[in-house]
Amino acid sequence: MGAIGVFDSGYGGLTILKSLIKELPEHDFIYYGDNHRAPYGTRSFDEVYEFTLEAVIKLFEMGCPLVILACNTASAKALRTIQQKYLPIHYPDRRVLGVIRPSAEVVGELSTSHHIGLLATEGTVRSESYRLELEKFSPHIELFQHACPNWVTLIESGQQATELGKENIQKDVAELLSLSPQIDTIILACTHYPIIADYIASIVPPHVKIIAQGDIVARSLKDYLQRHHEMELRLTKQGTVRYFTSGDPQLFNQQAAAIIHLDTDAQLIE
Ligand code: DGL
Repeated sequence: MGAIGVFDSGYGGLTILKSLIKELPEHDFIYYGDNHRAPYGTRSFDEVYEFTLEAVIKLFEMGCPLVILACNTASAKALRTIQQKYLPIHYPDRRVLGVIRPSAEVVGELSTSHHIGLLATEGTVRSESYRLELEKFSPHIELFQHACPNWVTLIESGQQATELGKENIQKDVAELLSLSPQIDTIILACTHYPIIADYIASIVPPHVKIIAQGDIVARSLKDYLQRHHEMELRLTKQGTVRYFTSGDPQLFNQQAAAIIHLDTDAQLIE
């Protein structure tokens, strides 16, 4: 029996955690942010796999029967190998789920022009994971992707609302929209980006919908637990949330309060 583990390279996964808590308020959660090694978006496939696997093992050691990779980069680069190669040998009764498939399952229905834009890290864009998943669920969709290599660092350092931060965001959003004038839906395919969703919405044409993943992932997890009763029975339910970071716990608490409006009491994890 244990909590649901939620992992991200840093603060971004807190945007997913917030929705998970709202959807499953009775469940216990353990959040782990690898802030010390963020960002992951520009790291190699091998590094992202190694760091993500380490985090998953830590969460398993803390008793989590189920871990959510609340990070697109980790979901794109590590999830499949963990699910197909690592778990069956080392932890056959534990589960690891990601954020890409739930998003790809629903996003095709949200666009009327069928031209969808996607903003993400370089790692997620290069992996082509969204294109592959969208081809399965919504083959009629044309996907236009743009990588925003500076955004995670801007957000992790709290500079997203500075002049430099805004210029960076405007430039990347304009580049995405220049790929197709018909884009009517933009997926924020990095869990850090909902932190700047309002700003993005203020600089795109009014008919363009900005889609954050938190509620989509939370609804999908609820549905998963209804279908996998054996997993649901192994999850503890006292409504607690514990936070761990590989970075500075004080800074984690300050940033979580400032950018996600979450009251955290993080502990250091080596
Ligand atoms: N929040 C992450 C994602 O969804 C990670 C970004 C990073 O560390 O570069 O991709």
